[in-house]
Amino acid sequence: MLYEQIQEAVQFIQSQTDFKPKHGIILGTGLGNLTDDIEIIAEISYKDIPHFPEATVESHKGKLVFGHLAGKAIVAMAGRFHYYEGYSMKQVTFPVRVLKFLGIEYLFISNAAGSTNGDILTGDIVFVKDHVNLQPENPLRGVNDERLGVRFPDMMHTYDTKLNALALVIAKQQNIRAHEGVYVGLQGPNLETPSEYQFLHRIGGDLVGMSTVPEVLVARHAGLKIFVVSVVSNQCYPLEILTETTLEEVIETVTEAEPKVRYIVKELLQQI
Ligand code: HPA
Repeated sequence: MLYEQIQEAVQFIQSQTDFKPKHGIILGTGLGNLTDDIEIIAEISYKDIPHFPEATVESHKGKLVFGHLAGKAIVAMAGRFHYYEGYSMKQVTFPVRVLKFLGIEYLFISNAAGSTNGDILTGDIVFVKDHVNLQPENPLRGVNDERLGVRFPDMMHTYDTKLNALALVIAKQQNIRAHEGVYVGLQGPNLETPSEYQFLHRIGGDLVGMSTVPEVLVARHAGLKIFVVSVVSNQCYPLEILTETTLEEVIETVTEAEPKVRYIVKELLQQI
């Protein structure tokens, strides 16, 4: 049973460290260096934690990092799981369940995304205010365990509006180009055809990516407060400017923009 598996993972972690994180951070593609800023108390490899999937994507490390960031007790996931890698949605979101039972209140998620909004450019930062879920499976499907959350979680107030407003102010003070936007989650691993980017634009999407939505669904189910920040790795709209995208370019662009994300996340942590 999922509940028992979560408890086993939590008990193992608590047998390794008595550190109590207050907030969780999931580090996305090219954004793993945020761990450099953490005053580390403990690190635990995913492979040692019962029921944790193992990380596969090369650009990710697979460990939980416990420590202080901007004076706050946090746990960071260095390495995350994507549905396109072949994991089930239950596996992709298992760590979020574990972080919840470790006692976190806020979940910060970062990712790399394409922009389907002509005003949102490569290298820009976007605070997600809503999403459209176009992924084919749902981590909440199946018998609902009321100890984890309600059967039909409402999605009205999923993204923390106060943190987004604060993040916009912080970005403006630093002259960082930043926006709020709607993230459309697709399964990948292929990028989109020009017609698909056109479609995503028309349905109100500002960003497109292959992660985040499953974790957000589970975090919402678990009653966590959620902040999602995307770095635009490639501009996909209007179609006239569309060029081919490679993983190397995505990682390069995001790595370049990463200090901005680090700054904003640290400032936010300081202020909550
Ligand atoms: N599409 C889907 N996912 C992505 C993209 C994209 O263009 N860029 C970064 N992640």
